[in-house]
Amino acid sequence: MQNAGVAALGLNWRYLAFEVHPDDLRAALEGARLMKFVGVNLTVPHKVLAVEMVDVLDESARLWGAVNTVRFEGEEGREAWRPLGQMDELPRSVRSHGFNTDADAIGRAVVEDLGVVVAGARVLLLGAGGAGRTAAFKLASESVGQLFLVNRTGEKAKAVEREIRSRWPSVEVTTGYPSGAVDLVLNATSLGLRPGDGLPLDESQFPLRQAGAVYDMIYRPAETPLLKAAKAAGCRVANGLSMLLYQGAKALEIWSGKAAPIPIMRRALEKNVYG
Ligand code: ATR
Repeated sequence: MQNAGVAALGLNWRYLAFEVHPDDLRAALEGARLMKFVGVNLTVPHKVLAVEMVDVLDESARLWGAVNTVRFEGEEGREAWRPLGQMDELPRSVRSHGFNTDADAIGRAVVEDLGVVVAGARVLLLGAGGAGRTAAFKLASESVGQLFLVNRTGEKAKAVEREIRSRWPSVEVTTGYPSGAVDLVLNATSLGLRPGDGLPLDESQFPLRQAGAVYDMIYRPAETPLLKAAKAAGCRVANGLSMLLYQGAKALEIWSGKAAPIPIMRRALEKNVYG
């Protein structure tokens, strides 16, 4: 996806995967900075660790408590920094700048794939782990109309509820299933990843026909039991591939300062993930 985007933008860059032990993350980031990498993406568990390791934190990373994109920047003058990927001559002094593009990707994915505008919507969110918490805060920050939180371990959903009430007091948030219809069901649990997994929700408490749309953050398999059941119930459905696409597209924009070629990146991603 990134190499297709980079090529389409005419950039002489390469996107490569490196396996780094969490204990070595600080050294690896320092190495990337000294070798004047344009930037890096980080995945679990490095995203949270990197918050303490970058020189500057963007508001997005501060808000979500996680860094998934680092941009290296060179000093141009006193206190003036420019993305390395946008400089013609490499500077002596380079700093790291941490961003988070995951949260924005959630909002963009549900709007583009399902036509759901978060502001004012009634949403049932399944899961209160790392992905669920981020999704809940993103929905709250976008003025979701009513948010219902369900998680196997109820106390974790309660903790997210309390945090939303304190940070976004105007948002209506409760734990437990809604009565009546919702605009969107969002699955942020890992149920559906493995063959034989059941549904991440209890259909006796919330029948799927009550949902206008269902988004599953899982993208492999392409159709989870939840999406299959939701489709049969007449809901609009989408899987998590678009979230992967949009967080990556945003990272490329952060590094390059150019609009990401979304359709080209989407095609490359689909080809790589689904063959
Ligand atoms: P991630 O970073 O992907 O969110 P996580 O923090 O481990 O990973 O969260 C996994 C989520 O899937 C949690 O909401 C978890 O529920 P618990 O908080 O009760 O653990 C949920 N989950 C995982 N396996 C599940 C199962 N078999 N049934 C129901 N929920 C499950």
